[in-house]
Amino acid sequence: MTLKKTDLPANCHLISFDILDSTNEEAKKLASGGAKSGTVVWAREQVLGRGRYGRTWDSPYGNLYLSIIQRPTCFPSDATQLGFVTGVALAEALLSICNIEIALKWPNDIMANGKKASGILLESSINPNKSLEWLVIGVGLNIEKFPSDIENSTSLHKEGAEVTLENVLITFLHYFFNYVEKWFNNGFDPIRERWLSLSLKKGTDIKVRLPEDVIFGTFMGIDNRGSLLIEKNSEINKIDVGDIFPMVITN
Ligand code: BTN
Repeated sequence: MTLKKTDLPANCHLISFDILDSTNEEAKKLASGGAKSGTVVWAREQVLGRGRYGRTWDSPYGNLYLSIIQRPTCFPSDATQLGFVTGVALAEALLSICNIEIALKWPNDIMANGKKASGILLESSINPNKSLEWLVIGVGLNIEKFPSDIENSTSLHKEGAEVTLENVLITFLHYFFNYVEKWFNNGFDPIRERWLSLSLKKGTDIKVRLPEDVIFGTFMGIDNRGSLLIEKNSEINKIDVGDIFPMVITN
Protein backbone atom coordinates (compact mmCIF):
# COMPACT_ATOMS: atom_id res chain seq x y z
CA MET A 1 0.00 0.00 0.00
CA THR A 2 1.39 3.42 -0.97
CA LEU A 3 0.69 6.27 1.40
CA LYS A 4 -1.14 9.24 -0.08
CA LYS A 5 -1.07 12.74 1.39
CA THR A 6 -4.87 12.59 1.61
CA ASP A 7 -4.58 9.57 3.97
CA LEU A 8 -2.90 11.79 6.56
CA PRO A 9 -4.33 14.32 9.02
CA ALA A 10 -4.31 17.88 7.61
CA ASN A 11 -1.78 19.25 10.12
CA CYS A 12 0.65 16.33 9.70
CA HIS A 13 3.79 16.65 7.58
CA LEU A 14 5.23 13.15 7.09
CA ILE A 15 8.87 12.63 6.09
CA SER A 16 9.69 8.99 5.37
CA PHE A 17 12.97 7.12 5.23
CA ASP A 18 13.88 3.50 4.50
CA ILE A 19 16.52 3.49 7.20
CA LEU A 20 17.80 5.90 9.86
CA ASP A 21 20.02 5.71 12.90
CA SER A 22 17.11 6.89 15.03
CA THR A 23 13.94 8.79 14.10
CA ASN A 24 14.27 10.73 17.39
CA GLU A 25 17.77 11.91 16.41
CA GLU A 26 16.56 12.98 12.95
CA ALA A 27 13.49 14.72 14.41
CA LYS A 28 15.65 16.55 16.98
CA LYS A 29 17.94 17.80 14.19
CA LEU A 30 14.93 18.96 12.17
CA ALA A 31 13.32 20.59 15.22
CA SER A 32 16.55 22.46 16.04
CA GLY A 33 16.61 23.66 12.42
CA GLY A 34 13.08 25.08 12.77
CA ALA A 35 10.85 22.26 11.45
CA LYS A 36 7.23 22.99 12.17
CA SER A 37 5.01 21.39 14.77
CA GLY A 38 3.30 18.36 13.27
CA THR A 39 6.38 17.14 11.38
CA VAL A 40 6.56 13.34 11.59
CA VAL A 41 9.77 11.43 10.88
CA TRP A 42 9.04 7.81 9.94
CA ALA A 43 11.63 5.11 9.19
CA ARG A 44 11.06 1.50 8.17
CA GLU A 45 14.20 0.46 10.03
CA GLN A 46 16.57 1.99 12.61
CA VAL A 47 20.16 0.98 13.28
CA LEU A 48 20.56 2.90 16.55
CA GLY A 49 17.02 2.90 17.95
CA ARG A 50 16.98 4.15 21.54
CA GLY A 51 14.65 3.51 24.45
CA ARG A 52 14.30 5.12 27.87
CA TYR A 53 17.45 5.30 30.04
CA GLY A 54 19.59 5.02 26.88
CA ARG A 55 18.54 1.39 26.38
CA THR A 56 18.66 -0.06 22.87
CA TRP A 57 15.34 -0.32 21.01
CA ASP A 58 15.49 -3.24 18.57
CA SER A 59 14.36 -1.80 15.25
CA PRO A 60 14.23 -4.39 12.44
CA TYR A 61 12.21 -3.92 9.24
CA GLY A 62 8.49 -4.66 9.76
CA ASN A 63 7.75 -2.58 12.87
CA LEU A 64 6.71 1.05 13.35
CA TYR A 65 9.28 3.71 14.23
CA LEU A 66 8.34 7.36 14.17
CA SER A 67 9.02 10.65 15.93
CA ILE A 68 6.64 13.60 16.04
CA ILE A 69 7.76 17.20 16.52
CA GLN A 70 5.46 19.29 18.69
CA ARG A 71 5.78 22.93 19.77
CA PRO A 72 3.00 23.23 22.36
CA THR A 73 2.53 26.52 24.18
CA CYS A 74 2.72 25.01 27.65
CA PHE A 75 5.09 24.94 30.61
CA PRO A 76 7.98 22.51 30.02
CA SER A 77 6.80 20.57 33.10
CA ASP A 78 3.38 20.01 31.47
CA ALA A 79 4.91 18.71 28.23
CA THR A 80 5.18 15.23 29.81
CA GLN A 81 1.39 15.11 29.52
CA LEU A 82 1.91 14.64 25.78
CA GLY A 83 3.47 11.23 26.49
CA PHE A 84 0.14 10.18 28.00
CA VAL A 85 -1.78 11.82 25.14
CA THR A 86 0.33 9.71 22.76
CA GLY A 87 -0.20 6.52 24.78
CA VAL A 88 -3.97 6.99 24.82
CA ALA A 89 -4.02 7.83 21.08
CA LEU A 90 -1.99 4.73 20.21
CA ALA A 91 -4.06 2.49 22.47
CA GLU A 92 -7.31 3.84 20.97
CA ALA A 93 -5.94 3.43 17.44
CA LEU A 94 -4.99 -0.19 18.15
CA LEU A 95 -8.32 -0.93 19.83
CA SER A 96 -10.07 0.33 16.68
CA ILE A 97 -8.21 -2.05 14.36
CA CYS A 98 -7.03 -5.04 16.46
CA ASN A 99 -9.04 -7.67 18.23
CA ILE A 100 -6.64 -8.19 21.13
CA GLU A 101 -6.38 -6.83 24.68
CA ILE A 102 -4.62 -3.47 24.71
CA ALA A 103 -3.61 -1.76 27.97
CA LEU A 104 -1.36 1.06 29.15
CA LYS A 105 1.42 0.70 31.69
CA TRP A 106 3.04 3.68 33.41
CA PRO A 107 4.71 5.69 32.20
CA ASN A 108 4.36 5.09 28.48
CA ASP A 109 4.18 1.42 27.56
CA ILE A 110 1.46 -0.16 25.47
CA MET A 111 0.74 -3.75 26.37
CA ALA A 112 -0.79 -6.32 24.01
CA ASN A 113 -2.32 -9.28 25.85
CA GLY A 114 -0.27 -8.24 28.91
CA LYS A 115 3.10 -8.03 27.13
CA LYS A 116 5.01 -4.94 26.01
CA ALA A 117 4.47 -4.12 22.33
CA SER A 118 5.32 -0.44 22.31
CA GLY A 119 7.29 2.29 24.06
CA ILE A 120 7.40 6.07 23.87
CA LEU A 121 10.47 8.27 24.28
CA LEU A 122 10.06 12.01 24.91
CA GLU A 123 12.92 14.44 24.34
CA SER A 124 12.69 18.22 24.55
CA SER A 125 14.58 21.46 24.24
CA ILE A 126 14.06 24.42 26.56
CA ASN A 127 14.66 28.05 25.50
CA PRO A 128 17.05 30.29 27.51
CA ASN A 129 13.92 32.00 28.92
CA LYS A 130 12.86 28.55 30.25
CA SER A 131 9.94 28.11 27.83
CA LEU A 132 9.57 24.92 25.80
CA GLU A 133 11.17 25.19 22.36
CA TRP A 134 10.17 21.78 21.00
CA LEU A 135 9.24 18.30 22.06
CA VAL A 136 10.03 15.13 20.10
CA ILE A 137 7.75 12.18 20.78
CA GLY A 138 9.31 8.91 19.62
CA VAL A 139 7.06 5.89 19.19
CA GLY A 140 8.22 2.33 18.60
CA LEU A 141 5.62 -0.38 18.04
CA ASN A 142 6.39 -4.04 17.43
CA ILE A 143 4.11 -5.11 14.61
CA GLU A 144 5.87 -8.08 12.96
CA LYS A 145 8.87 -8.72 15.17
CA PHE A 146 9.87 -8.46 18.81
CA PRO A 147 13.10 -9.03 20.75
CA SER A 148 12.75 -12.62 21.98
CA ASP A 149 15.58 -12.10 24.50
CA ILE A 150 13.58 -9.41 26.34
CA GLU A 151 11.19 -10.80 28.91
CA ASN A 152 7.50 -9.95 28.50
CA SER A 153 7.94 -8.47 25.04
CA THR A 154 5.65 -9.16 22.08
CA SER A 155 4.42 -7.93 18.70
CA LEU A 156 0.92 -7.41 17.35
CA HIS A 157 1.31 -10.27 14.87
CA LYS A 158 2.56 -12.61 17.60
CA GLU A 159 -0.64 -11.85 19.53
CA GLY A 160 -2.76 -12.61 16.47
CA ALA A 161 -3.63 -9.08 15.31
CA GLU A 162 -3.67 -9.06 11.52
CA VAL A 163 -2.74 -5.45 10.86
CA THR A 164 -0.46 -3.80 8.34
CA LEU A 165 2.21 -1.25 9.17
CA GLU A 166 0.62 1.36 6.89
CA ASN A 167 -2.83 0.94 8.42
CA VAL A 168 -1.44 1.26 11.95
CA LEU A 169 0.57 4.33 10.94
CA ILE A 170 -2.37 6.15 9.33
CA THR A 171 -4.84 5.21 12.07
CA PHE A 172 -2.45 6.24 14.83
CA LEU A 173 -1.64 9.61 13.24
CA HIS A 174 -5.35 10.46 13.00
CA TYR A 175 -5.93 9.57 16.65
CA PHE A 176 -2.77 11.40 17.70
CA PHE A 177 -3.58 14.73 16.05
CA ASN A 178 -7.16 14.47 17.28
CA TYR A 179 -6.09 13.79 20.86
CA VAL A 180 -3.52 16.62 20.84
CA GLU A 181 -6.31 19.00 19.86
CA LYS A 182 -8.54 17.62 22.63
CA TRP A 183 -5.68 18.06 25.12
CA PHE A 184 -5.09 21.61 23.94
CA ASN A 185 -8.79 22.53 24.16
CA ASN A 186 -9.89 20.58 27.25
CA GLY A 187 -6.73 20.05 29.27
CA PHE A 188 -5.21 16.92 30.78
CA ASP A 189 -8.04 15.69 33.03
CA PRO A 190 -10.11 13.85 30.35
CA ILE A 191 -6.90 12.33 28.93
CA ARG A 192 -5.83 11.17 32.39
CA GLU A 193 -9.28 9.60 32.97
CA ARG A 194 -9.05 7.69 29.68
CA TRP A 195 -5.44 6.70 30.44
CA LEU A 196 -6.50 5.36 33.86
CA SER A 197 -9.38 3.40 32.35
CA LEU A 198 -6.88 1.63 30.07
CA SER A 199 -4.33 1.04 32.83
CA LEU A 200 -4.10 -0.91 36.09
CA LYS A 201 -6.99 -0.65 38.51
CA LYS A 202 -6.32 1.71 41.41
CA GLY A 203 -5.53 -0.40 44.48
CA THR A 204 -3.39 -2.93 42.57
CA ASP A 205 -0.19 -3.99 44.36
CA ILE A 206 2.83 -2.94 42.34
CA LYS A 207 6.60 -3.01 42.42
CA VAL A 208 8.41 0.03 41.01
CA ARG A 209 12.02 -0.11 39.95
CA LEU A 210 13.59 3.32 40.47
CA PRO A 211 17.01 4.26 39.07
CA GLU A 212 18.61 3.40 42.45
CA ASP A 213 15.97 1.47 44.37
CA VAL A 214 12.89 -0.75 44.24
CA ILE A 215 9.71 0.06 46.12
CA PHE A 216 6.53 -1.91 46.75
CA GLY A 217 3.18 -0.25 47.27
CA THR A 218 -0.33 0.27 45.95
CA PHE A 219 -1.09 1.91 42.60
CA MET A 220 -3.14 5.08 43.17
CA GLY A 221 -3.12 6.57 39.65
CA ILE A 222 -1.17 9.49 38.18
CA ASP A 223 -1.17 13.19 39.02
CA ASN A 224 -1.64 16.10 36.64
CA ARG A 225 1.98 15.93 35.47
CA GLY A 226 1.82 12.19 34.89
CA SER A 227 3.84 11.30 38.00
CA LEU A 228 3.00 7.89 39.42
CA LEU A 229 1.09 7.92 42.73
CA ILE A 230 1.96 4.99 44.94
CA GLU A 231 0.69 4.41 48.48
CA LYS A 232 3.13 2.98 50.96
CA ASN A 233 2.71 2.89 54.74
CA SER A 234 -0.46 5.04 54.38
CA GLU A 235 1.46 7.80 52.59
CA ILE A 236 1.15 8.78 48.93
CA ASN A 237 4.53 9.01 47.16
CA LYS A 238 5.02 10.67 43.77
CA ILE A 239 7.43 9.02 41.35
CA ASP A 240 8.69 10.72 38.19
CA VAL A 241 11.10 8.14 36.83
CA GLY A 242 10.87 4.38 37.07
CA ASP A 243 9.41 1.16 35.73
CA ILE A 244 6.28 -0.38 37.17
CA PHE A 245 5.66 -4.10 37.59
CA PRO A 246 2.18 -5.21 38.60
CA MET A 247 2.44 -7.96 41.20
CA VAL A 248 -1.10 -9.03 40.38
CA ILE A 249 -2.68 -8.17 37.05
CA THR A 250 -6.31 -7.45 37.78
CA ASN A 251 -7.63 -5.79 34.63
C1 BTN B 1 10.98 2.70 25.69
O1 BTN B 1 12.10 2.55 26.21
O2 BTN B 1 10.00 2.04 26.02
C2 BTN B 1 10.81 3.77 24.62
C3 BTN B 1 11.14 3.24 23.25
C4 BTN B 1 11.02 4.28 22.15
C5 BTN B 1 11.51 3.76 20.82
C6 BTN B 1 11.21 4.72 19.70
S1 BTN B 1 11.38 3.98 18.10
C7 BTN B 1 11.18 5.53 17.35
C8 BTN B 1 11.96 6.52 18.18
N1 BTN B 1 13.35 6.53 17.77
C9 BTN B 1 14.16 6.07 18.72
O3 BTN B 1 15.41 5.94 18.62
N2 BTN B 1 13.46 5.73 19.81
C10 BTN B 1 12.04 5.99 19.63
